[in-house]
Order: sequence, then C-alpha cells, then structure tokens
Amino acid sequence: MFALRPDRFPSASAAGGAGQRSGTPDARAEPPATVEVFVDGIPVRVPLGASAAAAVLLADAPLIRETPVFGAPRLPYCLMGVCFDCLAEIDGIANRQACMVPVVPGMRIAPQRGARVAFRP
Ligand code: FES
Repeated sequence: MFALRPDRFPSASAAGGAGQRSGTPDARAEPPATVEVFVDGIPVRVPLGASAAAAVLLADAPLIRETPVFGAPRLPYCLMGVCFDCLAEIDGIANRQACMVPVVPGMRIAPQRGARVAFRP
C-alpha cells in the first residue's frame, strides 16, 4: 500500500516509483492526500486513511509499547487487530490498538509504557 516514504525518496515518487505495470499507481496520478501526525512528538506525514500503526512504522519509531512485566519493546505486527503489539496512547487515551485507528490531522501517538492505567483522576 505504501511503497516509499515521500519525504525520504522524493525522486522515486516523482519518477513513478514501482513502475507502470498494470495494477500499479500511474506516475502521473496525483499523490495521495497526506496528514501530519506526531509519533512520540516527531511529526510525520501519513497518507489519509492510514492507521496510527502505519504512522508509527513510517516514523521509524523504535517501539510503540513496552511489555508490562519486562519492558520489552514492541512494534505493530499483525496490523489487523489480533496481536495487541500496537497498544498506544492516542490523543491522550491509553490502551488503544493503533492498527485499528485511522489517522486524523494533528493526532498524537505516544508509546504505552508499562501496564495500562484504567482510570485517570
Ligand atoms: S498490530 Fe496487531 S493488533 Fe495492532
């Protein structure tokens, strides 16, 4: 779905990237609309309609959560709501599956560290 990061490979996106085979995007087509979100405070542009987990992967973040017991780093894995390795704090709400949440402009995605906090006073 996302061939290359346009901010890292501008020549590839301008040249058409993957080529002109049938079923691939046309080089002359408009690039997809993007939105800016923040992954652990770092701005990253993500295609509109992508998930927060995709934003994490596009940002090259080292982790999106740490396991509660050992603090092992995790990144999104299945991208379909099964593994729960993408639990994150999104716009201040902890314990959300980032792969199930579409990005919106200005979204703030922060790693979830340790056990979730059920209630905040
Ligand atoms: S990446 Fe597996 S549940 Fe989100």
